[in-house]
Amino acid sequence: MDQFAYRKGELYCEDVRIADLAAEFGTPLWVYSRASLLGSFHEIRNAFAAAEPVICYSVKANSNLSILRLMNEAGSSFDVVSGGELFRVKQAGADTSRVAFAGVGKTDDEIRFGLESNILMFNVESEAELDAIAAVAGEMQRTAPVALRLNPNIDAKTHVKTTTGKKGNKFGMDIERAGQLADKVLADDRLSLIGIHMHLGSPILTTDPYARAVKKGVEVVQKFRDAGHDTNWINLGGGFGINYKQNEAPPAAAFAEVIVPAIREANCRLALEPGRSICGNAGVLISRTIFTKREGGRLFIIQDAAMNDLARPAMYDAFHRIWPVKPAVAAPEDFEAEISGCEPADVVGPVCESGDVLAKDRWLPETHRGDLICTFSAGAYGTTMSSNYNSRPRGAEVLVDGGEFRLIRRRETYEELVKNEVFD
Ligand code: LLP
Repeated sequence: MDQFAYRKGELYCEDVRIADLAAEFGTPLWVYSRASLLGSFHEIRNAFAAAEPVICYSVKANSNLSILRLMNEAGSSFDVVSGGELFRVKQAGADTSRVAFAGVGKTDDEIRFGLESNILMFNVESEAELDAIAAVAGEMQRTAPVALRLNPNIDAKTHVKTTTGKKGNKFGMDIERAGQLADKVLADDRLSLIGIHMHLGSPILTTDPYARAVKKGVEVVQKFRDAGHDTNWINLGGGFGINYKQNEAPPAAAFAEVIVPAIREANCRLALEPGRSICGNAGVLISRTIFTKREGGRLFIIQDAAMNDLARPAMYDAFHRIWPVKPAVAAPEDFEAEISGCEPADVVGPVCESGDVLAKDRWLPETHRGDLICTFSAGAYGTTMSSNYNSRPRGAEVLVDGGEFRLIRRRETYEELVKNEVFD
């Protein structure tokens, strides 16, 4: 279901010419497909339907209010990791009673905000956090619903910077301590142990880590129930991989196959926190070629988008397909291969760092000053990780729906870059 496709030699998003969007809104430009966002959400919902999950779209993947509103209308709930994300979800008009709140360092103010918002669960990551939540709930004369975030010590084989469920990562509590912490909750009427939470890493390209995690999770829930807790929720976090290259990621149904039977057998409620698998392939980054140059035996294609826009290649050596909007050579199946009619190039940005790349050593057709380039699979962890480094204003965002489109974030101005700075 790819909503970004070449027709008659140029790139479209749904029924809209990308070149028209770039002409109207300028570059760097983020373009999202509504059909793709909804399609991925429905694929996950349908795959897991037998477990009737609460799907909590992970706001950190793409937090644009229009996208949150779209997810809300589609029936998604939300996973948040900060007061700011909770604020966004409220701004988007969501019912916060199904929100999951994760994060290793929630402040008292954030805990209070969560309790005021009647969220579904706090994913609690340490004993100290349990104490803090109990204290704030006590002040507010409330009972806080908590899910212990467990570190199941499962290697999900993701990038070292995005692996979260292995011993030694900062996330969650060692699974062996779960019983002891559960006893503490049982003795405290300001807390109620409604479930457990695990998030193994991101992006995960095999189903096995989930199969192992759900098995461990069910065992822990059973122990909690035996100890007298009314514990029903298993929140398996997010992490489902997507196709950045070709077809490297299992479909949602394959993940569901290893998760749903175990959940049903244990008579548990399932929560999921997918982010990337909903929005990753629903967005692209369009940039314009400023210059090309050959130095040191390499061809550099310099874009007006940079690591401050899309940090993933610089930060994780992440692979994003990249191809011109109006290419002289048809887009290949395999973007890693040697492509005839092309030559290897580094696609870079103008930021003053050698790590500022969008794609390294990629076979690309001849490119000229002014040509538009598309970086694919940029819908997740693109804008949310963008910055103003080098005092570069953030780009505009557009949401396409069939033959229509709508600006969903204006391009930042120079004035906005300095508006919070105080000097006399
Ligand atoms: N739930 C929790 C508790 C998480 O920490 C995350 C992601 C998710 C859900 C959503 O994971 P997803 O379904 O999107 O894979 N910046 C990195 C990814 C960091 C993921 C952080 N946590 C990247 O660009 O690859």
